[in-house]
Amino acid sequence: MPVRELTAEDLIAYRMLSAGAFGGSVDPSAADAPQSISPGRTLVGIDSSSIPGGQAGVIAAGAEIRYDRIALGGGVAGCGGIGGLSVHPAHRGDGLFGALVTGVLARCLAESLPLSMLYASNPSIYRRYGYQVVARPQSLIVPLVDLQRIAAVPDRRLVPVTEATMPRLRELHHELIAGDNAMLRREPPLFPEGLPALPWAAVLLEDASGTAHGYVSWTRRGDATDGIGLDVHELFGRTRSDRVALLRSLGSWSTVTELLRLRLRTDDPVLDVLPSGRARPDSSPVPLVMMRVVDTAATLRARRAPAVLGGTIRLDIEDGTVPEGTCRAAGSYLVTARDGAITVLEQEPSSAGDCDALGTCRLDVHAAALLLVGGRTLADARRLGLGAEADPAAEAFLDALLAGPRPSVLDAF
Ligand SMILES: CC(C)(COP(=O)(O)OP(=O)(O)OC[C@H]1O[C@@H](n2cnc3c(N)ncnc32)[C@H](O)[C@@H]1OP(=O)(O)O)[C@@H](O)C(=O)NCCC(=O)NCCS
Repeated sequence: MPVRELTAEDLIAYRMLSAGAFGGSVDPSAADAPQSISPGRTLVGIDSSSIPGGQAGVIAAGAEIRYDRIALGGGVAGCGGIGGLSVHPAHRGDGLFGALVTGVLARCLAESLPLSMLYASNPSIYRRYGYQVVARPQSLIVPLVDLQRIAAVPDRRLVPVTEATMPRLRELHHELIAGDNAMLRREPPLFPEGLPALPWAAVLLEDASGTAHGYVSWTRRGDATDGIGLDVHELFGRTRSDRVALLRSLGSWSTVTELLRLRLRTDDPVLDVLPSGRARPDSSPVPLVMMRVVDTAATLRARRAPAVLGGTIRLDIEDGTVPEGTCRAAGSYLVTARDGAITVLEQEPSSAGDCDALGTCRLDVHAAALLLVGGRTLADARRLGLGAEADPAAEAFLDALLAGPRPSVLDAF
């Protein structure tokens, strides 16, 4: 069952597979039918004709790999975002899923994408290939009446977001997510430079000199029988008072709708400025964000180290989830932090290591994903039942090296 790259000629067959699995329709004769694979993406798949009883011109299993870049530990890392993964109903239950996921990971490695990310409504099927849940997207339902009486914030005004001001919003987004973990950088070609399609809307918050300090983006819902008239995609501000100013602006909707749904980052700082405790979690089911380490050394090298941290540990990672050579997660590494940078030396598994090292950390591939994406400790990994053992000094070092906010992802794919 060879996994191959799909080309423009396979596009209709791939779309039919995907629409069959996730819904939607494909009309190859329609004038706007896609003719080429969108930039920033690769499609991979398995031909039905390579399987006994299969048919030519049918894709038996396929997936899309996005070439994303994510904020990671103060740096930026490449990340293969996996979407649209599906197996043709005629070929399900025959083990194609595993062949496809393995092929996808091998392709991520070949494309120098040290991490992979996907949204899973059924995490167990991905877990067996080394993916680990790292984030749970969440939203709050906020009564608008609570935002009505927020006082004005001095030296702040709102600016409409248009084609002209959209670049300022993008720039501010990059700036404000730079300290986060796992947030997608919204860059072309995956994120076009212009305005998102209507009914998306946003306002930018600036001071009297015209410096941007925050923004809030939303979609107005037309037929809100549940009382939720506004889907707020994100609210970002530099400071507490910037977030207060943006919440105040949302309060202006209270005359036309009762509730808003506010999408949150993990431990979102906006939670600390909500004026009442009457907000409630949104009950809609949301897929979980799972990530996998494709290349341990490259993932670590993409990060920054805390400036005050110095030292070396030996890091041993075990990965029995994919055939050898598919990923470069497993191995023995000497990890050094010095002057804010991380260096990684790959070791022979049998080597004695560095006698100056603080000790050894041993992680399984799931703990490696949980920890290297940031904001979690070895104790957190053990609490989840993942393999994470270490000499005490090495554990303290790795926890300090990977400290930061817990991962968040706001972009669905
Ligand atoms: C989910 C899907 C990709 C599985 O593909 P597949 O080729 O049939 O899976 P495999 O035969 O390789 O089975 C892999 C394992 O996953 C399990 N599995 C398959 N579908 C499952 C499901 N829906 N729920 C739970 N486990 C499932 C199988 O039992 C098998 O486990 P086993 O090895 O212990 O027997 C396929 O059913 C599909 O395309 N579904 C619709 C689209 C979809 O759900 N995509 C994933 C989006 S998150």
